[in-house]
Amino acid sequence: MTNVITHPAWLPAAAWRPIGTRRVRVDVPGTVRDEVEAACAAHGGRLVTAGEADLTLTLTGTGHDGYAITRDDRGTTVTAATHAGLVHGLFATVRMGESAFTPGPRVASRPAFPRRMLDHWDNVDVHPVMGQVERGYAGGSLFWSAGALRTADLPRIRDYARLLASVGINAVALNNVNVHATEARLLTDRLPEIELLAEPFRRYGIRVHLAVSFAAPMLLGGLDTADPLDPAVRSWWALTLGEVCERIPDFGGVLVKADSEGQPGPFAYGRTHADGANMLAEALAPHGATVHWRAFVYDHRQDWRDRSTDRARAAYDHFTPLDGAFADTVTVQVKHGPMDFQPREPVSPVLAAMPRTRLALEVQATQEYTGQQKHVCYLAPMWSEILRFRPRGDDGPPIAGTVGELVAVANTGDDPFWTGHPLAQANLYAFGRLAWDPSLTPAEILDEWITLTFDPDDGTRAGLHDVMDDSWRTYESYTAPLGVGFMVRPGHHYGPDVDGYEYTPWGTYHFADRDGVGVDRTVATGTGFAGLYPYPWNGVYESLTDCPDELLLFLHHVPYTHVLRSGRTVIQHIYDTHFDGVTRVEAARERWRRLALDPDVHARVAALLDEQVRSAIEWRDQINTYFFRKSGIGDTHGRMIY
Ligand code: GCU
Repeated sequence: MTNVITHPAWLPAAAWRPIGTRRVRVDVPGTVRDEVEAACAAHGGRLVTAGEADLTLTLTGTGHDGYAITRDDRGTTVTAATHAGLVHGLFATVRMGESAFTPGPRVASRPAFPRRMLDHWDNVDVHPVMGQVERGYAGGSLFWSAGALRTADLPRIRDYARLLASVGINAVALNNVNVHATEARLLTDRLPEIELLAEPFRRYGIRVHLAVSFAAPMLLGGLDTADPLDPAVRSWWALTLGEVCERIPDFGGVLVKADSEGQPGPFAYGRTHADGANMLAEALAPHGATVHWRAFVYDHRQDWRDRSTDRARAAYDHFTPLDGAFADTVTVQVKHGPMDFQPREPVSPVLAAMPRTRLALEVQATQEYTGQQKHVCYLAPMWSEILRFRPRGDDGPPIAGTVGELVAVANTGDDPFWTGHPLAQANLYAFGRLAWDPSLTPAEILDEWITLTFDPDDGTRAGLHDVMDDSWRTYESYTAPLGVGFMVRPGHHYGPDVDGYEYTPWGTYHFADRDGVGVDRTVATGTGFAGLYPYPWNGVYESLTDCPDELLLFLHHVPYTHVLRSGRTVIQHIYDTHFDGVTRVEAARERWRRLALDPDVHARVAALLDEQVRSAIEWRDQINTYFFRKSGIGDTHGRMIY
């Protein structure tokens, strides 16, 4: 069944009016001209080939995918060196609205990161546990349904490519990093599906990538090994990837999750991740394509009794010894935190420890651990904090200046609102905008999104900000406290279960007992994780008094009576934030009720806010009760704890 996307996201027809009512000249054939032609047809303007124009879009010079916009009395001109740059310049003009046509200072913009990538975790077959989209909260896959490519929906995929291009995204991995049997074949006999999918993305300057199985030479090629140093394996990859690049000349490359959570990898042959990645790079480099190799490697079968094994160290311990060993066309893709996309983690120390390797920062737009697109959780403040973090202190570069690329796990699907929760669209929008320009503030990005999506009056704009601006911190306040993470129901990860993972092999523990809680990751008495950071953070994280409150339990095991930097005890902080979190969600629901917006959007969000209130209360009561029963210490305000 095909859902109809009823909500046009942030490019409604009205946003094109300022361009579509004017005389516009486009000097090159292709997508930019098609877009302008459609806008003029809708709004009464004219595409002209010569003479006076209010807006001219033209290619000039050579260089990057940026653009410049000049505005004077004679009109507005958008120039770019590449067609993709002109596409970005056109969308920038749309964002500017009428002000694009009033004289003003020249705007010149170029992307901070050359690759701005979205990873889909879409399966071809419906996976028995994970479904069509792993950790997908926005309906089915836009690309496949029950084993078959959605050929009838290619126009919608084109609309999707357009949405992504409008925020500057230029690379998309189409399938899940956990590559099952059917999906492995996208590389060979099912390659025609990728050829078809590549076309709508190509129109918008987006290159497609494929997640591949490291064991593909065995699964598909009939070899008895996938050893990256075996000549037969190497030539299988060279031939197979050569064929892919011939059929899809702008193929972006492959994405690999190896030796992680059951996926095959080079460890089986006593080889390193560099051996594996470089083999693929050698096959792809002649065709201008690259390898994304994920650093999410850890032991998911550890013994919970063994307190010396620390999952937070794993990526660092596996990858930093290989710094400098990866080929130039390999990108090591690192999750933002050392664990797994929790709402609060320290920035991964790997990002500061591999100066001779091209790194990508990976964030999760799909809200696996941040409310599963049932809760409002605007993630730009978290991403922005990560990008601004300076691992070497104030004199060193921020993460935005340390990594070479940004990647997000996609939050989209065939849901009528694209993202399940209509307000989760803002996360996709913000990811693209931050990847283009990490100096933008979360509030200004949200403001752009609000304007383009709703074109609201001032009161509605303020209401949307009230509901969304701080929603990440609100979410944090009623879930796992002080950076300790998880406490979610195992498997699907929605809702509270404080001990759900405590005695499992997954390495995600909080160690709460009657005296205290938290993971001792200090050098002095713990796992040594704090020492993986350069100065000054190694010292800050090691110190019980300097460690930021929001990360305290990620780094230290403390008594419930430990006094935080805020002046409150840990136990009182837990109670206060959980009561406060529910109050804030209730206030957001009230605020939303009073907003006048598109009725479909309003109704969907209102229903989801009811669920968010219910869920926040469930979190509050389970967390508070758990810690009250463990500690025996009451709430100083005497509120209801069960
Ligand atoms: C999380 C998530 C998995 C996913 C994994 C990954 O653990 O729960 O579904 O496969 O991350 O990023 O590879």
